[in-house]
Amino acid sequence: MKAVPVRIEEAENVRQKLLLDGALDKTRKLVKNKKNGFVEIPVKESFAAGDFTLIEQEKPEYYSPKKTLADIVDIPAYEKKLLPSGWQILGAIIIVSLRKELENRKYEIGKALLSLYPRCRTVLLDRGISGKTRQPSREIIAGENTETIHRENGCLFKLDAMRIMYSQGNLAEKKRMSKLGRGETVVDMFAGIGYFSIPMAVHSRPKKIFAIEINPVAFDYLKENIRLNKVGDIIEPVSGDCAMVTPRGIADRVLMGYLDAYEYLEHGIRALLPGGILHYHEAVPETIESRPVGRIIEAANMQGRYVEIIKMRRIKKYSPGVWHVVVDARVD
Ligand SMILES: C[S@@+](CC[C@H](N)C(=O)[O-])C[C@H]1O[C@@H](n2cnc3c(N)ncnc32)[C@H](O)[C@@H]1O
Repeated sequence: MKAVPVRIEEAENVRQKLLLDGALDKTRKLVKNKKNGFVEIPVKESFAAGDFTLIEQEKPEYYSPKKTLADIVDIPAYEKKLLPSGWQILGAIIIVSLRKELENRKYEIGKALLSLYPRCRTVLLDRGISGKTRQPSREIIAGENTETIHRENGCLFKLDAMRIMYSQGNLAEKKRMSKLGRGETVVDMFAGIGYFSIPMAVHSRPKKIFAIEINPVAFDYLKENIRLNKVGDIIEPVSGDCAMVTPRGIADRVLMGYLDAYEYLEHGIRALLPGGILHYHEAVPETIESRPVGRIIEAANMQGRYVEIIKMRRIKKYSPGVWHVVVDARVD
């Protein structure tokens, strides 16, 4: 196998150059030759040396090829066909859903997933999310510790994955929110552990975010995440039902990131200053996709306020024929 030997201080520069030229053999590792102290940078067989010295490597070292779950799980071949093709990774926790036929193999699958991701410590079997406080139903199938710190978009989110949901399907929406709100007063009516409030505070630095959360477990993690991300000067956590505790007439922007938020629209609209922006979420069947727009207009008109709909976006498929959407509206 061919390699380019270089002095250790030149190794990174030469590796970068070979990478850019498409000559680097990525299946092999850089090897330090103990006899002469040179670093051997692996190159493809087709590489024409040009200005470089080229050697035949005595002891090439290979990266191990990427294994799949099916490669390593110890179950019969016909069951391997039923394995899931994906799973969620939150910090050091893997969350997986299994078809009913594989339930009796859950421990083998948990063990195999842990060996696939050496930095992970625990695997949870997911059976869905329910209720107003979005409570997950999960079971430990490998490991034991279910609290973790997940990193996303430069923010830290501490959570207990057994007790708290974390949606990764709305990553783009969380990124969008992280770019809005500079210098503003914001109300996040369904804050959870800070899914929108934390990235907005970290990246856009609003003047103030009132982050409201009803679930005490999520509220404790919200407070912890405010500390972890050092945004205590921006986010004021508010414990309680947003129907009762949403402030009135102070917000440049209101976030309603909850799929049953329509019940609370009157409070969201009342929180907004004239000209303020509402980000209203709803799960809506394709056949009646204009429903959220109608609901915003109706709720605003009830308060004698005028609405300009800016845009409606689909965030993700919620269930067959049903979309999670967000509507941006200016309320005068
Ligand atoms: C679905 S989670 C937030 C999801 C988040 N936007 C995401 O994308 O992952 C909604 C949060 O609203 C909270 N919640 C539900 N009803 C509430 C209410 N009436 N007042 C305040 N918080 C509420 C729930 O406890 C939950 O933590």
